Amino acid sequence: MKGKVYLVGAGPGDPDLLTVKALRLLREAEVVLHDDLVTPEILKLISPTAQVQNVGKRCGTKTIRQEEINFLMVTLAAAGRQVVRLKSGDPLIFGRAGEEIEALQRGNIDYEIVPGVTSALGAAAAAGIPLTHRRASSTLVLTTGNHASGNDAADWSKFAAAEATLVIYMPGSNRGEISRKLTAAGFGEETPCAIISRATTSEQRIYRTTVSDLKRAPKLPSPTLLVVGEVVRFADQNLLREAASVPALSNEFGGAFAQTLFSSAKGLRRGEEPLA
Ligand SMILES: C[S@@+](CC[C@H](N)C(=O)[O-])C[C@H]1O[C@@H](n2cnc3c(N)ncnc32)[C@H](O)[C@@H]1O
Repeated sequence: MKGKVYLVGAGPGDPDLLTVKALRLLREAEVVLHDDLVTPEILKLISPTAQVQNVGKRCGTKTIRQEEINFLMVTLAAAGRQVVRLKSGDPLIFGRAGEEIEALQRGNIDYEIVPGVTSALGAAAAAGIPLTHRRASSTLVLTTGNHASGNDAADWSKFAAAEATLVIYMPGSNRGEISRKLTAAGFGEETPCAIISRATTSEQRIYRTTVSDLKRAPKLPSPTLLVVGEVVRFADQNLLREAASVPALSNEFGGAFAQTLFSSAKGLRRGEEPLA
């Protein structure tokens, strides 16, 4: 049988959000090369006979270089294996799939892309935030905070001018820097924001604040996403009410939880923000 590589999206964490096709491929795969963020619940769905390898990278500590991942995919498929390259969320969003596709094309390897639910959509659904709203925003921007203090940062002022909803992947821990950058770009200080941690998993947490108060936000366990824009005001009120019934978490953060926090789990753990 001819080898093939499937670039598959694992979604944001909840295994019920896998596509039917992704599930079938995980059950049929001979080799699965997965990222760090793919949850254990999803890894359990992989065929027990498959060879499974974590090729994830975290915070600069690269256990394996991108070139090595490319080499692995190409050589395994050239040897006739059915390979699933499993990425969190959607493979084409902040997932370096572009480089992997180039390597597969150079190696003349058959490949197929299987989309997944990107974490922005999983997080928005979990928090009940309509990412577009007739009365608030008709523009949605997916961007990254990875380069928030660098010169190559996206020019966020055009997003403020368009009254866009911004979903910031990999926002990092420097919330003060992001807050300054958003303000400098023209986002009002009272613009609502939501930090969503471990969206769609049993450890999900959602913290609501504003652009000016972002710097006081607690450090939530990674991975996290930051949603910025007027649409955050429309977050599901039932979830907000649910938040009010969550046992007080203020002790853990010395009272930093003056804003609304709603959660589906107890006990916070700290972690690293993965890099694309
Ligand atoms: C390298 S990017 C991969 C994005 C992925 N391809 C996607 O479509 O969601 C990793 C970043 O995605 C975001 N992310 C992924 N899963 C998440 C989750 N369950 N909850 C919150 N953020 C998540 C975080 O910002 C994390 O730092």
